[in-house]
Amino acid sequence: MRRLIIDTDTGSDDAVALIMALKSPEITIEAITTVSGNVPLIQASQNALMAIEVTKRATPPVYAGANQPLKRPLMTARDVHGQDGMGDQGLIHPTGRLAEGDAVDKIIELVERYPDEIEIITIGPVTNIAKAILRASEVMKRVKHIYAMATGGFGPGNITPVAEFNVYVDAEAFEIMLNSGIDITIVGFDICLGDAAFDKEEIEHIRNSGKPEAVFAIECNRSKIDWNLKRYNRYCINWPDPLAMAVALWEDIVVESVPAHCYTCTIEEPAYGQVIVDTSFFGNKTKAFNAQVIRRIDSAKYKARVIDLLTK
Ligand code: BDR
Ligand code: CA
Repeated sequence: MRRLIIDTDTGSDDAVALIMALKSPEITIEAITTVSGNVPLIQASQNALMAIEVTKRATPPVYAGANQPLKRPLMTARDVHGQDGMGDQGLIHPTGRLAEGDAVDKIIELVERYPDEIEIITIGPVTNIAKAILRASEVMKRVKHIYAMATGGFGPGNITPVAEFNVYVDAEAFEIMLNSGIDITIVGFDICLGDAAFDKEEIEHIRNSGKPEAVFAIECNRSKIDWNLKRYNRYCINWPDPLAMAVALWEDIVVESVPAHCYTCTIEEPAYGQVIVDTSFFGNKTKAFNAQVIRRIDSAKYKARVIDLLTK
């Protein structure tokens, strides 16, 4: 049985990724850890608890973590996900409570308890992971794998011309994670667009299943749909976090993945949060590959699996 930690700044697409994991019988979610990002920490934690409650399957503990990025003030994405991160539909009334303890302590504790077994899926800024690495770098080398929704991949940024949101919020943390020696797979924003985005018919199909968690998955993405209409002039939902979860759950949806040396820009203000994905060096011994970056997925297979999982 795979042992997972999901580290999330729970906004609308994070909630769908959580529902997917909660409905996947082949994994154990050892913990959900929350971080400020899409919304501040308290709201992100409430939203994670809500995703658990609406799914009515596994009930993993939720630990709150970092309130603030390592060095910068927090920037949220409430313009995309709504003030409450869940489309402002009045959906958030969880009765569950946070587990006691700090997310960073729990991450370290779990890796210590299960060396070389824990896989971490990061779908928000990686402040918690960086803090764990800074506090216990040797322990964290025993993380089996990190799947990270981060970077523009091989495309542009979505928050600045060159930076993707999760990295932009805490670029210093991302660079620490990249240099940690842990095996990392990066799912960039570029591959959730185009035919990997869910169109109107697919959205209606998920909603019409009537499954509470499937209806919730669509309802909480209402402001994302409006945002996409404004930004891309297309009625669709692009789901970066569910795609990262899908890559972690189903490696056969990956068509092409390339080793790269990734470097996070943290100094030049206009480039802050850009991740340079260097796949080109030939035997340069001063740099090493520090991540696998997904270049192409089978969109049809990916969407069919997500639809099946949400609606069954
Ligand atoms: C990422 O930023 C957030 O808005 C989403 O939840 C996703 O994790 C996409 O850039
Ligand atoms: Ca997220």
